[in-house]
Amino acid sequence: MMKKLILITLSITFTLISGFAVSQDRGIGGVESLRGNVELEVTRPADLLKKVPRDQVDIESNYVFQPPLIPHHIRSYEISLNANKCLSCHGWKKAKQMGATKISVTHFINRNDEVLADVSPRRYFCLQCHVTQADAKPLVGSSFERVKSLQ
Ligand code: HEC
Ligand code: HEC
Repeated sequence: MMKKLILITLSITFTLISGFAVSQDRGIGGVESLRGNVELEVTRPADLLKKVPRDQVDIESNYVFQPPLIPHHIRSYEISLNANKCLSCHGWKKAKQMGATKISVTHFINRNDEVLADVSPRRYFCLQCHVTQADAKPLVGSSFERVKSLQ
């Protein structure tokens, strides 16, 4: 009888201890990722907005079909279901009048290779591919070299 009691007490204690250990393990265990050394459950403070320089330089392409960098600020340029500020200058109707580069024909092609009459849905969210010239350090290293034809 006494033996049984001791056994039960022991197993309960063990369960409690191991349960505690497991809950301790649910974090990042000291492993630092791109997110930084922050436990999974914690919402870390957002990074500061990157500064977009006033003077833009002519940054050359590193490969064919590279989306050109945006050489101007884009603060408060809305891209949503209702409005696309970028197209109000870069759309074919407005580009000449605004002195902006027209979006190229590739921006009208959908994923079935059909040429549409208006900008293709897959090119609607400009900032998926085009970025400003903010001084943002690369998050991971890269050994990519400019293709020969552009060297
Ligand atoms: C008020 C008009 C205007 C708006 C709005 C605008 N742009 Fe521009 N953009 C220009 C002009 C003008 C140029 C020509 C280069 C310059 O700034 O001197 C240009 C240049 C560019 C270029 C470089 C093109 C090349 O051939 O190198 C890209 C890319 C670009 N804009 C993307 C965007 C994106 C993306 C948005 C929306 C977030 C946007 N632009 C909103 C006027 C505008
Ligand atoms: C899926 C990626 C992608 C998206 C989304 C995208 N672009 Fe592009 N854009 C490119 C690539 C790649 C190029 C260069 C090759 C080409 O012309 O297709 C380019 C070229 C351009 C150019 C230069 C055209 C020229 O004749 O030199 C302008 C301006 C431009 N994009 C504006 C925009 C605007 C404005 C939007 C949003 C309405 C947009 N892009 C959305 C990938 C994209």
